[in-house]
Amino acid sequence: MTEKVFIFDTTLRDGEQSPGCSMNFDEKLEMARQLERLNVDILEAGFPIASQGDFDAVVAIAAEIRRPVIVALARANQLDIDRAWAALKESARPRIHTFLATSDIHLQYKLHKTREQVLKQIAFAVGYAHSLCADVEFSPEDAGRTDRSYLIECCHVAVEAGATTLNLPDTVGYCMEPEYEKMFRDVKEGVPGMDKVILSTHTHDDLGMGVANTLAGIRGGARQVECTINGIGERAGNAALEEIAMAIRVRADVLPVHTDIRTEELYPASQLLTRLTGVAVQRNKAIVGRNAFAHEAGIHQDGVLKNAITYEIITPQTIGMPSNDIVLGKHSGRHALAKRYEELGYPLSKPELEQAYQLFSTLADRKKNIYDEDLLAIVNAGFEHLPETYSLKLLQSVASNEGRATATVELEKDGETFHDSATAEGPCDAAFRAVDRITGTPGTIVDFTVHTVGPGTDGVAEVGIRARFEGREFIGKSTSHNVVEAAARAYLQAANKAVYELKRAEENAAVASGSVHENKAVDRFFPQGF
Ligand code: KIV
Ligand code: ZN
Repeated sequence: MTEKVFIFDTTLRDGEQSPGCSMNFDEKLEMARQLERLNVDILEAGFPIASQGDFDAVVAIAAEIRRPVIVALARANQLDIDRAWAALKESARPRIHTFLATSDIHLQYKLHKTREQVLKQIAFAVGYAHSLCADVEFSPEDAGRTDRSYLIECCHVAVEAGATTLNLPDTVGYCMEPEYEKMFRDVKEGVPGMDKVILSTHTHDDLGMGVANTLAGIRGGARQVECTINGIGERAGNAALEEIAMAIRVRADVLPVHTDIRTEELYPASQLLTRLTGVAVQRNKAIVGRNAFAHEAGIHQDGVLKNAITYEIITPQTIGMPSNDIVLGKHSGRHALAKRYEELGYPLSKPELEQAYQLFSTLADRKKNIYDEDLLAIVNAGFEHLPETYSLKLLQSVASNEGRATATVELEKDGETFHDSATAEGPCDAAFRAVDRITGTPGTIVDFTVHTVGPGTDGVAEVGIRARFEGREFIGKSTSHNVVEAAARAYLQAANKAVYELKRAEENAAVASGSVHENKAVDRFFPQGF
């Protein structure tokens, strides 16, 4: 058996902190559950000192996700470490991850500290973390640009103070493969006691070298790799988990190591992240991009038909990507639908199945062939786990190439129906403005994406919207044959989230100020008065 490389997922920390990828509490928990299904070894759940939301998410993940090691990030000071430990306490397998920059550039311009001071701070922080938690990881931030002998000194101090994992980040994505590999060899050889310590990679993609450097780190002796789903992360992103896992699996002949990743969960993980963040991967993205298995050139198609091995080094099934075969039709029932979703890696709850079935039936009435892609588009549009304050009953829109577009919208709330109309430059905008007039919470579109799903001219439009309401951003997604309808539904979904969250924030503020009794919040979830 080859040596194992431990997969450390940081989608919910380094990934989540990148612009456009933020997730709320429920979304982080949903993602954490999928990461557990994917069988990651270590899951970095957040940076608890950064915000109350981050703290709460780490607490909840630590309490629910029991198999992987759960990590909380902390700067190298007592306050951060205490906060990380407080968030991790309920975890079955907690780890504190503390970091401090070690390159001269960071010491001089960011920390304004001497090398000596930084060494002392490492000794204190790692020692303090170790006094609380047996499993401690230390990262010398910007290791890639740190003077090598000083880096070895920093690592030595961290190991002596109790670090059990040493992570060597290429924080700014600057390293080339041979340099990154050598850094691992140097630290392994230069730091005493490394037989009891795991070395870890952490690479960024600024020069497009993230995954290549991770593999170089493994060649240099790393046995933990830090990465994110879809490669999301600061600036150009982190190394993509799916690319690392598949490179190791496909090329075990040159890289004789293995991971315990369940590769058939890679595509569902990628899709889920896209749904939660509204950030789609590019079509030609390795492993999980829509075109990753599409053969357009005739010569390729011919080869694949004769034997897939001619142009395919991975099968779509290996990563859990659904096939393009027709799977269901107009006469399929709930049972068949539930079964197919289960096979696709989406076990649906009863209310979710009901929502999915309604959307499926509408689609099947208009579209002859339903493919897995259509089914995924339905779940990826997202089920409303939050109460749907307003639901769309009717949309009428008129647009022409001359003059403004008009939309009339009918929404229902608590059994009451509301109508309104608006005009704008385009039909989608007119529909959004009509929704705003009813909800009274106007939004501004930050991002608007439209994709067609499935082959043929009867493809479905999948619309993703990120909109700002009262300074906060919310995501909505929907699918329909009619692009304007999909856009209106996606916008309404985002607006419903905004209405719900803003009301919740108001209630929390009222509780905090003492003007409302605390049970108010409980009443909302248990209206029968539990
Ligand atoms: O890129 C980096 O250096 C980091 C550290 C906090 C590990 O994300
Ligand atoms: Zn990073």
